[in-house]
Amino acid sequence: MSLKTKIAVLGSGNGSNFTSLAEACNKDSLRAEITLVISDVKDAKILNRAKELGIPNKFINPGKFRTKLDDTAEAAYIKALKDSGAQWVALAGFMRILKGDFLRAFEQKVINIHPSLLPAFPGLEAWKQAYDYGVKVTGCTVHLVDYGIDTGRILAQGVVPVLESDTSTTLYQRIQEEEQRLYPSTLARLFNNKI
Ligand code: GAR
Repeated sequence: MSLKTKIAVLGSGNGSNFTSLAEACNKDSLRAEITLVISDVKDAKILNRAKELGIPNKFINPGKFRTKLDDTAEAAYIKALKDSGAQWVALAGFMRILKGDFLRAFEQKVINIHPSLLPAFPGLEAWKQAYDYGVKVTGCTVHLVDYGIDTGRILAQGVVPVLESDTSTTLYQRIQEEEQRLYPSTLARLFNNKI
């Protein structure tokens, strides 16, 4: 019997967080196996990255809404995830809100990473919101997903100072570097019952 925790990853974009999780699994610093990657964007880079790493991956049409899954899509996502054997679902840049049925299917088992120190700056382009506001420190947050937008119990945060020389782009680059350290290390602690 495998002692590895089975996780699935949902993403809409580049997949840098997914890649950091997959690399941590390969190195065994994260005792987990990624059973499936699903994207709501057909040509998302995250799917190509999964393909290159030999990890099962699929696009599932999100349906008619822009910010959430429609009922048919939600059922298809849940089925694919359950069929893959995933115990946890890690969101890695998945840009849709997950609703009741999905969250009930994976009760307290959906995790997200967000590029700000929540509860400050939820929503889109959080690093830009922080930069435009003029904060002197920002960062990223790993949290359990609940029914709100970027809310839910905080598991870990990484702090990134805002430098005088920063543009919102350079700031986001450093936040992403911190994300790629924080996400795998937090999941490792979570799965080892250290959180
Ligand atoms: C990450 O910066 C992640 O924090 C953010 O999307 C990016 C995905 O990048 N997520 C959110 O803003 C969720 N509210 P990636 O595809 O390269 O991992």
